[in-house]
This record gives sequence, C-alpha cells and structure tokens, in this order.
Amino acid sequence: MLQPSSSGRIPLSRPTIEGVDRDSVLQVLEGTTLALGPKTRELEERFESRFGMPAALVSSGTAALYLSLRALGVEGGEVITPSYGFVATAHAIALAGATPRFADVHPKTGCLTLDSVIRAFHPAVRAIVPVHIFGTPAPVDEIVAWASERQIPVIEDACEALGSERCGRSVGTIGSAGTFAFYPNKQMTLGEGGLVVSPHGEVIEAVRRMRNQGRTSTGLEFAGEGFNFRITELQAALGLAQIERVDRWIERRDHLAARYIADFSAHPGIETLPPVPAGDRRSWFAFPIFLENRSTRDRVAASLDGRGIDSAPYFPGIDRFPPYDSASRVPSDLPATRGLSDRGLAIPFFPGLAEPDRRFVASVILGAVGSVEPRMRPVAPPSAPSEPSSR
Ligand SMILES: Cc1ncc(COP(=O)(O)O)c(C=O)c1O
Repeated sequence: MLQPSSSGRIPLSRPTIEGVDRDSVLQVLEGTTLALGPKTRELEERFESRFGMPAALVSSGTAALYLSLRALGVEGGEVITPSYGFVATAHAIALAGATPRFADVHPKTGCLTLDSVIRAFHPAVRAIVPVHIFGTPAPVDEIVAWASERQIPVIEDACEALGSERCGRSVGTIGSAGTFAFYPNKQMTLGEGGLVVSPHGEVIEAVRRMRNQGRTSTGLEFAGEGFNFRITELQAALGLAQIERVDRWIERRDHLAARYIADFSAHPGIETLPPVPAGDRRSWFAFPIFLENRSTRDRVAASLDGRGIDSAPYFPGIDRFPPYDSASRVPSDLPATRGLSDRGLAIPFFPGLAEPDRRFVASVILGAVGSVEPRMRPVAPPSAPSEPSSR
C-alpha cells in the first residue's frame, strides 16, 4: 500500500519559496524605497523582453483585466467570455460596467472556440475575453482574426497560462492585450500581483496612469480617472527572484502532469486534458481530472479528503453564482460547461510535490473510482531522472 511522505495533508498547491526569494525581499527591506521604485520597473523590463512588447505590473490579475478593458475603451455593453473559469474574469467585466455574455466551451479543453464565440455574438458585444484555462492555449488567433474584422478587441485572460504558447506565440501577446496573475498558486508568484501586456504602447500607458491615481508624472499631475492598483517593491523583488526559475518549474509541472496522465490513462473512468495541437504549448497551472459524473467526482473528493489530500471542484460555472445567475447573458444552455464543471476535480499539483506523494494521490483516486492498483501503469522509482515530458 502506497503511503505519503509525511503525516501532514497534501495541499492542492504550494509556492516554491527558497533562500534567493527571501534574500531578494530582505534587500528591499534594508533600503528605504518600499513602493514605486526601481524593482518594479526592472521586473516590468524582464517581462517586456520575455514577451517582446510593453508591459505594466498591477496589483492583481483582476486589476489587470479591469484596467485592460478600461484602457481599450470598454465601459458598457456586453463582453463574451466563458462561464467555465474563475469568477474574477466576470467580476472585472462587471466592474468595467459591462455585462458578461457567457459562451460555451470546447467539451474537452474547456476553452472558448471560434464557433462558440460566433454563436454567442450579439450587436451589443464590445469585447471578447477568452481564458487560457489551466494553461491550455485557447484558439485566440482564430478569435482575433474574426473579431478584428468587426473592430472588437480581444483581451486574453492568460492569468493561468504564463509560459503557454499558441502557434508558437506566447499567449497574452496575440490579442489587443493580455493579462497574467501571480497569486501563490500560479506558475510564479509575487504574493499578489498582475501584469498587462499589449502591442499597443498607448494601452500600457493608460494602464500605468490608471494604476497610479491617473498620474501622468511622478508628481501631482493627473489626467483623469485612476486608482491605487500598484505593487510594492517587496512584491517586485520576489518576482525578480522567481522569474529566474519559472521556466524550470514549468518543466517540472510538465513532468508531473505526464506522470499523472500515465497513471490514469488505463482507466476509462478518468479523463485528463487532451494534448495540445502541434505548435502549441500548455504550461500547466493546475491538474484537473474529469470523472464519470458529479456523484463520482464528489465521492473521489471525499476519499481524497479522508486520506489527507486536498482537492477542489474546478471550476463551477460562473453563471451559477449571483449576480451572474440573473445579471448576465447566457445565450444557450452551456452543455459543455455543465459537463466539465460537474465532473472536474483539481488534484495536488505544484513543483515541490514529491513523487511518493504524487503516487499516493494517484493511487487513492484509482482506488476511489473502483480500480485496483495493478491497473496502474508501473511508475518509475522516485530516484528516476525527472525528464520533462512532451507537451
Ligand atoms: C482565469 C483567471 N482569471 C483571473 C484571475 C484573477 O487573478 P487574481 O487572483 O490575481 O486577481 C485568476 C486567478 O486565479 C484566474 O485564474
């Protein structure tokens, strides 16, 4: 019988914080500039060279989405977005004064498709916000091509997808703007934080202005509306230490995902996300499994809980929650959204997840769905070299 590596619970997610992170943050504390300083600009420059376009750091992914919408002139009307995702996307749209118009998703990937966008379209639509859910690249190239003929901006919600690529291009860089998030469960963390990238310099200028009370300079010159959506130098210092190692962690996540997929592939009752098309790259954010139906999913979650393992039903449809159950536009029944949200369960997944713990999680799941351990593919011993998987 497999056992976990320690007696504590196995969490869903855990950030990787090491000596270099502590040193970087402590260095800021030893100085006097705690906000609006050089670390924030340095981290922005790191992202600008990674993405090849202007970037602005803000206080969260939600703020990044809201400011992107505002910078692109969205202040009302409707915004097409999936219901299958995290509620922050809808909250940002609502805060910008618009109404989310929920489109259904691909039944296997959980992402919007061009077809689903066209089916949901309405003349009141002012923007489209596809979500690269779990790091799976949504077909934003197709959506952008269709939307640009109609002068509709596409804002990519890449909050879960730092490192993902669509047709060889970083997600977030394909639409009019893209947003990333740095909450501690993300590919890298600032504690809290968000990023807007855009090929349009004026969009990033507007985001920089609005994140800092509408300031046009470091002094007391203001040009219109603004907020405090800044980050501190402490957060930027943590980000500077993290960005050095994020690609290594993305490879480690790839490796863990491949191991889980190998364990579950022989079981017809456990689905995992499909491989992405050639030319695309998925930077895994979370690892969801999809069980036969809601009651199996809940039974598996209860078994995991009973064995000291955290899990979460990812993601319930946003349109099921107030105010979106009454204040949104749901043009169809969203059958694919319902299917995924009833059956989806995120299981422990983070770079520091030890192989014995990962195997223990897989064995509890296989046991709970009614499989016996011999049906598991043999797994390599923990000392096996950690080859990054194919994507
Ligand atoms: C898809 C998606 N959009 C937006 C957000 C919001 O990011 P934050 O929590 O940093 O505001 C998240 C964060 O979890 C997310 O997963």
